[in-house]
Amino acid sequence: MTATVKWLGHSAYQLEIDEHTVLIDPFVSGNPMATVTAQELAADIILLTHAHGDHVGDSVEIAKRTGAQVVCNFEMGDWFLAHGVENVFQGNPGGSFRNDWLSAKWTIAFHSSSFPDGSYGGQPNGFIIRGGGATIYHAGDTCLFSDMQLIGAEGLDLALLPIGDCFTMGIDDSIAAVRLLQPKRVSPMHFNTFPPIEQDAAAWGARVTAETAAEAIVLEPGGAIVL
Ligand code: NI
Ligand code: MN
Repeated sequence: MTATVKWLGHSAYQLEIDEHTVLIDPFVSGNPMATVTAQELAADIILLTHAHGDHVGDSVEIAKRTGAQVVCNFEMGDWFLAHGVENVFQGNPGGSFRNDWLSAKWTIAFHSSSFPDGSYGGQPNGFIIRGGGATIYHAGDTCLFSDMQLIGAEGLDLALLPIGDCFTMGIDDSIAAVRLLQPKRVSPMHFNTFPPIEQDAAAWGARVTAETAAEAIVLEPGGAIVL
């Protein structure tokens, strides 16, 4: 049982769970951090935290080409079904998607969630993902919130947290989030993609090391963590 977490830039990840592939928020086309093209990506499952363009990204193209199952909130699922994606699983916070090698539980996130065409995208989410013997929290786009303590109680091998500020929590609040989540490892996302979210990830890592018990892992786009 293995889980490998590869950062595609921004909030996009490719999880290899045993012989299976999960894409999270696959924003590749138009992502200046991306090291791959959408056409190079294959997936069994696509997990989506919310409907903003920098998260939905290339999901429609990848899902139609590969037949990957799109796992997202109820309103987003209706939008995908209306746009020709047939393999959709819809949920909401507290619920889980499950198959025989993966579970993904919707968590709350505090943000907004409209599609680029203006359609309503439901409430934004994060996910607690279990597969390959690992438990991973992808926070999505969110501010700090105290219920992160409950998410941490699930026992996290890795937390993926936004640090960009402006649209999500910034560095100060991400340190408080690490204290609530108490993950073994934490890695930053949603920074440096665009000028409003420029951050010093090395400085963030130094603060995580000094102020929390977690191991800070700053990836380059294309880099991976093996759990
Ligand atoms: Ni967003
Ligand atoms: Mn975003």
